[in-house]
Amino acid sequence: MLLIYLLTTLLPLLSFAQSIKNLGSSGGNGPSGGIGDVNNPVLKAQSFVTDAFIPLKQNTTRQLAHGKPPVLEDGTNTTQACPPPRTILIDDLPGKRQEMVGFGYSWTDSSVEVLNRLTPELQDQVLKELFSPEGNNMGMMRHTIGSSDMSGRQYSFDDNGPGFNEGQPDLSLSNFDLGEDGTAMLEMLARMGSYKSDVFRIGSPWSYPGWMKHNGLFIAPNLDAGTSYNVLNNSFDRQYIPQAIEYFTKYLDAYASRGVRVNGLTLMNEPLNYKGGYPCMYLDSADGADILNHGLGTVLKDRDIALLAYDHNTDQPMYPSQMLQRAEGYVDAAAWHCYAYLANYSVMDDFNYAYPETPQFMTECSNYLPQTAALNWQVVNAFVPAVQHGAAGASMWVLATDPDFGPHSPYGGCAGCQGAIIVNSSTSYLKTNDYYVVGQFSRFIRRGAFNYRVLKGNEGNHLKPNQFNLIAAQNPDRSWAIVFVNNLNRTENVRLEFTGSANVWEGVVPNSTVTTWLIPADEVLRKNETGPSTSTPPFALYNATSTAAGPTGAGGGKGNGSCVLPPVTLSTTSSATSSTTPLIPVPHTINVIEQNVL
Ligand SMILES: *[C@@H]1O[C@H](CO)[C@@H](O)[C@H](O)[C@H]1NC(C)=O
Ligand SMILES: *[C@@H]1O[C@H](CO)[C@@H](O)[C@H](O)[C@H]1NC(C)=O
Ligand SMILES: *[C@@H]1O[C@H](CO)[C@@H](O)[C@H](O)[C@H]1NC(C)=O
Ligand SMILES: *[C@@H]1O[C@H](CO)[C@@H](O)[C@H](O)[C@H]1NC(C)=O
Ligand SMILES: *[C@@H]1O[C@H](CO)[C@@H](O)[C@H](O)[C@H]1NC(C)=O
Ligand SMILES: *[C@@H]1O[C@H](CO)[C@@H](O)[C@H](O)[C@H]1NC(C)=O
Ligand SMILES: *[C@@H]1O[C@H](CO)[C@@H](O)[C@H](O)[C@H]1NC(C)=O
Ligand SMILES: *[C@@H]1O[C@H](CO)[C@@H](O)[C@H](O)[C@H]1NC(C)=O
Ligand SMILES: *[C@@H]1O[C@H](CO)[C@@H](O)[C@H](O)[C@H]1NC(C)=O
Ligand SMILES: *[C@@H]1O[C@H](CO)[C@@H](O)[C@H](O)[C@H]1NC(C)=O
Repeated sequence: MLLIYLLTTLLPLLSFAQSIKNLGSSGGNGPSGGIGDVNNPVLKAQSFVTDAFIPLKQNTTRQLAHGKPPVLEDGTNTTQACPPPRTILIDDLPGKRQEMVGFGYSWTDSSVEVLNRLTPELQDQVLKELFSPEGNNMGMMRHTIGSSDMSGRQYSFDDNGPGFNEGQPDLSLSNFDLGEDGTAMLEMLARMGSYKSDVFRIGSPWSYPGWMKHNGLFIAPNLDAGTSYNVLNNSFDRQYIPQAIEYFTKYLDAYASRGVRVNGLTLMNEPLNYKGGYPCMYLDSADGADILNHGLGTVLKDRDIALLAYDHNTDQPMYPSQMLQRAEGYVDAAAWHCYAYLANYSVMDDFNYAYPETPQFMTECSNYLPQTAALNWQVVNAFVPAVQHGAAGASMWVLATDPDFGPHSPYGGCAGCQGAIIVNSSTSYLKTNDYYVVGQFSRFIRRGAFNYRVLKGNEGNHLKPNQFNLIAAQNPDRSWAIVFVNNLNRTENVRLEFTGSANVWEGVVPNSTVTTWLIPADEVLRKNETGPSTSTPPFALYNATSTAAGPTGAGGGKGNGSCVLPPVTLSTTSSATSSTTPLIPVPHTINVIEQNVL
């Protein structure tokens, strides 16, 4: 009884306490470069606002615009807000949860190819806007190892034949070669490092070389017409375990020799997705574990590189547990994707309950065909619940594309995944709404921040519209970055309270926005810093006089006790878009999915 009592009372408190210390060096030196860093503390309360509405005409909505800053309540303002404020309670006493790594995107061949089309001046500008501390300051970036569905050409680093699917086994990997596209990817990652050194870089292959698979990569010539093609054995052939280990090692060494540190690795993007038409491969968790146990685990430990298990949807949550059980000591984290219709984030709570020391990540979610003149919640519907359920970081899919969602594989894959950056010509690119929404997170939550439990104030979730959600992170300078999602179709007055502090902040989270508040550390407030903030404000592109929707918030409360609220229409359709094919059944395997001990 006592044991059960202790387990049920203490575990929820202990959970999410995991740190990212063991996750490989970031390549930089921990938290650096950006507001909220110890060297760049938040000195005054600020608010930044991005409208979820994608306008027909560019630059007519708020994009990381300065909003009305929250004010510290001193008890002298007796005016009643209208509507009455929503109370947010942040549990800053026992509510400390996971340590944060950062937010960002995925480098794909398409991203590299379209950014390389820009003039050197514009390429420099866009890389600054993505990675520098004055720009989006993105701290977690995934990259593809070989081609993915967002590649115009299909290749691995050792095809050993005329094409991806036509090679002979290269047992010594003597023909290993990054190739033209792989080299362009590496050069781009090296350039990224010159704008931001402490990016957490995660590499993921979409397939191993064709000859390491039972059927090679079989590309269906006419997938849409339902041509039959043999996908059943598009799976890793375990006789090539030594070659798979060598393949990863050569890739890591090629990156290291160019000065690019890889900080995290997944053994396979979507290991249960074996019939994409584009490169993909079934990797059983037992085979994945053996790749680690037979040598790759040691290779990664020696190089201080974290292994992130799974890298696939929440609908098969046993896979990362199996990896942890089978490759004990070599699995550092679990990685999830947001698809399989709508992700079920509570499996991350289950995982955390079973493995409280093991960090989790949201490594992939795409924005499929975002519509103009509509609200866009895709980024927040991936990032916010993932962090609420324990993710230490999150990355969206596909950093940059051309205006036709390419280049991408002609054999399937995502024909509607839009980049954060759309490159139109050598002299023109567009930062999409997603660029700004990701910036609401990546600019303000530093590596080494801690996510805190929110006890009051959340309403609804990513499964439905009409949500008000937030995450609260305390940055290394002990300031707070609070990211709000307001999909209530009304402006919300907010009263922010902490369990461990008497300070109360009041402010406004405007209608249909993602809004980030920066709240100075108590130490800063006590010092009563006056004078200008030394922090660099992010780009504020919104010109308040140029559109009707201003960044200020609520209609003024008149304080006469008759606050008449406008009626709220509750819509019943979901605003979330699923961006991939429905769940792909797991092929027959001799390995039975085991139940967890807990
Ligand atoms: C939007 O604003 C950005 C930044 O000020 C600017 O570079 C871009 O040209 C603007 N686009 C349009 C269509 O006005
Ligand atoms: C007092 O509170 C009201 C309602 O929240 C707000 O509109 C007003 O700006 C506040 N006044 C000051 C001086 O902060
Ligand atoms: C799959 O590969 C195994 C081992 O090579 C072979 O025995 C089996 O017949 C193959 N199945 C199919 C459907 O190709
Ligand atoms: C989500 O996962 C939990 C286990 O964490 C399960 O109990 C629940 O039924 C799942 N919900 C859906 C809609 O699949
Ligand atoms: C790309 O350029 C074409 C022609 O100049 C223009 O019509 C189109 O709107 C542009 N698309 C984007 C996404 O900027
Ligand atoms: C909230 O913003 C959306 C998008 O701009 C708009 O359609 C809607 O009318 C606004 N709601 C209210 C109550 O102002
Ligand atoms: C700081 O102190 C000055 C002088 O005592 C006071 O006028 C000012 O309001 C204080 N500022 C803040 C942010 O509390
Ligand atoms: C904002 O827009 C107004 C009206 O179009 C213009 O007069 C003003 O110069 C603009 N301000 C800035 C800072 O761009
Ligand atoms: C109270 O304020 C409301 C809204 O501003 C106004 O319509 C109403 O007449 C006021 N009532 C009184 C008694 O002042
Ligand atoms: C949002 O509010 C506006 C103004 O009150 C209303 O016209 C519209 O129908 C509402 N939209 C939704 C989706 O509820």
